[in-house]
Amino acid sequence: MTIPGLLILPGDGIGPEVMAEVRKIIDWMGENRGLGFDVSEALVGGAAYDVHGTPLHDDTMAKAQKVDAVLLGAVGGPKYDTLDFSVKPERGLLRLRKEMDLYANLRPAQCFDAVADFSSLKKDIVAGLDLMIVRELTSGVYFGEPRGIHTEGDERVGINTQYYTEGEIARVARSAFELARKRDNRVCSMEKANVMESGILWRDVVQEVHDAEYPDTALSHMYADAGAMQLTRWPKQFDVIVTDNLFGDLLSDLAAMLTGSLGMLPSASLGAPMESGRPKALYEPVHGSAPDIAGQGKANPIACILSFAMALRYSFDQGAEADRLEQAVQAVLADGLRTADLLGQEGITPVSTSDMGDAIITKLPKVGQ
Ligand code: IPM
Ligand code: MG
Repeated sequence: MTIPGLLILPGDGIGPEVMAEVRKIIDWMGENRGLGFDVSEALVGGAAYDVHGTPLHDDTMAKAQKVDAVLLGAVGGPKYDTLDFSVKPERGLLRLRKEMDLYANLRPAQCFDAVADFSSLKKDIVAGLDLMIVRELTSGVYFGEPRGIHTEGDERVGINTQYYTEGEIARVARSAFELARKRDNRVCSMEKANVMESGILWRDVVQEVHDAEYPDTALSHMYADAGAMQLTRWPKQFDVIVTDNLFGDLLSDLAAMLTGSLGMLPSASLGAPMESGRPKALYEPVHGSAPDIAGQGKANPIACILSFAMALRYSFDQGAEADRLEQAVQAVLADGLRTADLLGQEGITPVSTSDMGDAIITKLPKVGQ
């Protein structure tokens, strides 16, 4: 049996320190559960720019295309704010998404009971929340042409283009319907068909795919602004939300924050199946590089650890191991362990990033247990 290949890209800010905890878990699984990975590590984002003058070296891109899964920490930071747009840390991440053609970005917004108090919403509105945003990730206004800043007459104009083909909409719609069937079988599609032609096409194509291939799934449509409002009003009405790249960027941050668990939410970006039959895949925490707390041992490693759990499930066919890892996370939270991002509750002293990783490992059963 070939050993599955995993490329780790810690990136910037708190990326390296949260990824160090995942490395511990990977090593532990190799030693105690007979789960071996062929792990390699490379630079991305500002860290790559500092060394190579580019946020993603071609060798790293080539490697990412070959492995079974990529696990990324975070990119960006104030140090790189003044760089030319083309070499900003974020361009490294966008290149990975585009060239690996990772069109379906799965962002769960799940409320962990232990931290429901951290939501800015009332507890009964978020307790038990479990929804999934499927964000289109390789097209739309992020990549559409023409784009740029030009001069017209005596002033500058900034241009970006919202662009979607039917095929791009149909494939991400299928991802959402497939996922819904494994959940509560409900999909809500969000766009702005009231003001954008691309939104009209989006709505039509999602409906067509539904009628032809997924008539058993309950489909509704909502304008994205109303969707944002409904997400804060009564988020539990949603099961799966499918939306475009830019709306998905906004709505997934909103959904993540209202769980009170921003530091704990993982994500998966999936593309077309590879030879192995499994999709091309990149996993990353939803949170960013948090430069303000980087290097201080304050970061919460749970989002990155749960991203690895998603990799176990979607890329490595290790659903049972993923379950065990998720249960270990729940168990440390139930014990009252908190990193600094989850403080505010009286009488709790925060644990460090590394202590949190160690505590999760103590909850993992060894082989035979
Ligand atoms: C995200 C981030 C990225 C995006 C940035 C870092 C390019 O906000 O993954 O949501 O806008 O997609
Ligand atoms: Mg974002």
